[in-house]
Amino acid sequence: MKIKAKACGEFAPVYPVIVPVVTVPLAERSYPIFIGDGLLSSLGRRCAALKLGSRCAVITDRNVAPLYAKKAMASLVAAGFNPSLITGPAGETSKSVTMVESCYDQLAKHRLERSSFIVALGGGVVGDLAGFVAATYLRGVAFVQVPTTLLSQVDSSVGGKVGVNLKAGKNLVGAFYQPRLVLCDLGTLKTLPKREFRAGLAEVIKYGIIYDAALFARLEKDLPKLLAGHQASLASVVARCCEIKAEVVCQDETETGLRAILNFGHTIGHAIENTCGYGKYLHGEAISIGQVAAAKLSAEVVGLSDKEVDRITQLFVRAGLPIQIKLSATQRQKLMAAMLLDKKVSAGMVKFVLAKKIGLVEPGHKINPKLIEDVLRVESPIRASIVNRKS
Ligand code: NAD
Ligand code: GLY
Repeated sequence: MKIKAKACGEFAPVYPVIVPVVTVPLAERSYPIFIGDGLLSSLGRRCAALKLGSRCAVITDRNVAPLYAKKAMASLVAAGFNPSLITGPAGETSKSVTMVESCYDQLAKHRLERSSFIVALGGGVVGDLAGFVAATYLRGVAFVQVPTTLLSQVDSSVGGKVGVNLKAGKNLVGAFYQPRLVLCDLGTLKTLPKREFRAGLAEVIKYGIIYDAALFARLEKDLPKLLAGHQASLASVVARCCEIKAEVVCQDETETGLRAILNFGHTIGHAIENTCGYGKYLHGEAISIGQVAAAKLSAEVVGLSDKEVDRITQLFVRAGLPIQIKLSATQRQKLMAAMLLDKKVSAGMVKFVLAKKIGLVEPGHKINPKLIEDVLRVESPIRASIVNRKS
């Protein structure tokens, strides 16, 4: 799948801005992902092209609203829409059934109809929540993703996984429901807190490990440029990540096989988020620890070389992400119990995605819980020399 570059003159009267477009090819549910600086002002025009009803709702959070809601609403109004704004608290705790109900109430108040649509303006939390609301309100209304964090631009806005958390675990209630379009305005990343940007890099690095050794090598070289917010590097990396996600999702939309590779490091990551309390570790930080643990498991089980475990560990360290977690024996037990609630558990066995080498992974490995506990020990002898030497 190739990225098509489209010339589009709307933001620059003097020279055309090149907007990379990645398509997620899912037959009649195919949709484009537009990537570029300043795209938010084109939201209304791009929604108009979808030929939906005039009533719509923008769902966002309290951090994003003051920064971007006015621009999004103005663009929709200018294109002839009648939008209402729904603003909820920021953070993982908003991915809740309570927030879903609050959104339903506000949609009903604004009299959204079957032909109406919902715009998710924000990070992965807003995207997952708003997408689930869209999937279920009136048995489904259209929705558009406008991701404003690096993590949501490269991952959560693409592929149609939407949902909320339960006390018992992450994303336990949800649906597969594809957006009608994704608009990644790279300009929104300029206001993103550094810690959140680094958390997004955890998903970026994941694509290198699971699918694309050349991307991984490019990240090793270009990490300083990405951390400095270099627009051209960001645009090409975001586009490559979206392209990989589209390539995986179009082969296995509902995760019966291949799509599971996108969960590399997530089984441990989700358990960390759940047992430490949502919000203590950002999702990207938790899966950074999870991916380093999965790399160590890979070395034990499928022969990932020490050199590659080292490269993986180093890239997360250089991105400013945590690579290990100190747990008491009780906390470790809790984490192991949380892992058994993961959606990837079958017949009581936790299944892992393991890397044979950078760029090539295999899903479906059943791992002895004792080995998982061992790699999670900070003082673990398993590959500890590598981690300790570098961190
Ligand atoms: P988030 O949505 O909580 O956003 C991070 C923080 O940044 C929030 O405080 C938010 O208000 C703020 N923010 C967002 N955009 C901003 C901007 N441009 N400027 C300033 N502040 C901004 O977190 P996230 O990392 O984007 O997403 C994490 C969520 O995504 C998790 O719930 C995770 O489970 C989910 N996720 C879903 C998928 C999927 O396929 N659906 C994939 C990966 C992750
Ligand atoms: N982020 C995992 C998936 O979309 O399948």
